[in-house]
Amino acid sequence: MDWDAYERDALRDFDTARDASGVSEVHVRYLGRRAALPLALREVRDRETGQLLNSLRERLEQGEHAASARVAREHVAQQIGSGGLDVTLPGTPFPRGRLHLVTQVRREIEDIFLGMGYEVWDGDEVSDVYHNFDALTTEPGHPSRSQSDTFYLDGDTVLRTHTSPDQIRAMESREPPIYIVCPGRCYRRDTPDATHSPTFLQIECLAVDRGITLADLQGTVLAFSRALFGPEREVRMRTSFFPFTEPSVEFDVTCFLCGGEGCTVCKHSGWIEMGGAGWVDPDVFRNVGYDPDVWAGFAFGFGIERIAMLRHGIPDLRMFWENDLRVLGQF
Ligand code: PHE
Repeated sequence: MDWDAYERDALRDFDTARDASGVSEVHVRYLGRRAALPLALREVRDRETGQLLNSLRERLEQGEHAASARVAREHVAQQIGSGGLDVTLPGTPFPRGRLHLVTQVRREIEDIFLGMGYEVWDGDEVSDVYHNFDALTTEPGHPSRSQSDTFYLDGDTVLRTHTSPDQIRAMESREPPIYIVCPGRCYRRDTPDATHSPTFLQIECLAVDRGITLADLQGTVLAFSRALFGPEREVRMRTSFFPFTEPSVEFDVTCFLCGGEGCTVCKHSGWIEMGGAGWVDPDVFRNVGYDPDVWAGFAFGFGIERIAMLRHGIPDLRMFWENDLRVLGQF
């Protein structure tokens, strides 16, 4: 067999093949199962011939490889040239993910407080009864302690009903002055409706320093609300009661839907509740070993979903958890 001629012919045929099927015809002719070279390789008895034929086969395979690459390039070039391939057509859309609206709002709130010199402090969602109620001077018979309001894991352990136990933990773990915000998930046995959910996020704020007054609380909430809602929204403070603050207040913001006129979202009051607040009760300081004659403080706990509703005009809390991409994709 004239292997030199075999090689010459094969390489020439690969070089002149015009398309992919041409290349595979040449392959069958020179490298296929019944072509002379593979048959000869099967019959090889001596080392020298084996080496010769194997290196010949390698050279032919390289020739085939180069030919395949060339015809593939020519195919694309020809399709573009003939208008068969429209490179301006839109590709397959690949939707981008994003942070959930509630997460965006939580981070925005955190940023506002970081800007005012606060620190973000992370508490636990599971609390003992002491931190969730006792240390916050919540009386034994208080309705919030009942099995029908609170999720008890056992007699002494609850899913925290508010972020206020974080106040206690923070004060137990460090000395004043303290300026912290604690965002986190809370749990209550509430029936879901447009403004209630058995699980929701709160953000607790605690400031402890010398000479803190209720005016500091009001100024902080005002600065925070303006940063978040803009100057057109008004904020009001009305008296309330919490076991761990004295005096206690609640903050409301003018309704996003009617602007204060009264509508179904604000139950015709013109206002929407943001949450509770107050001046830290001296007994709470005593419970964590702070001297109430030296230290004073304010605290508040606002609902993050409520703030997100107010911020973006969302009429129903449940929309956050339905995960309808038509809703979530707008933010
Ligand atoms: N923890 C209270 C609640 O869940 C809110 C609050 C926080 C009130 C801090 C006063 C001070 O409703």
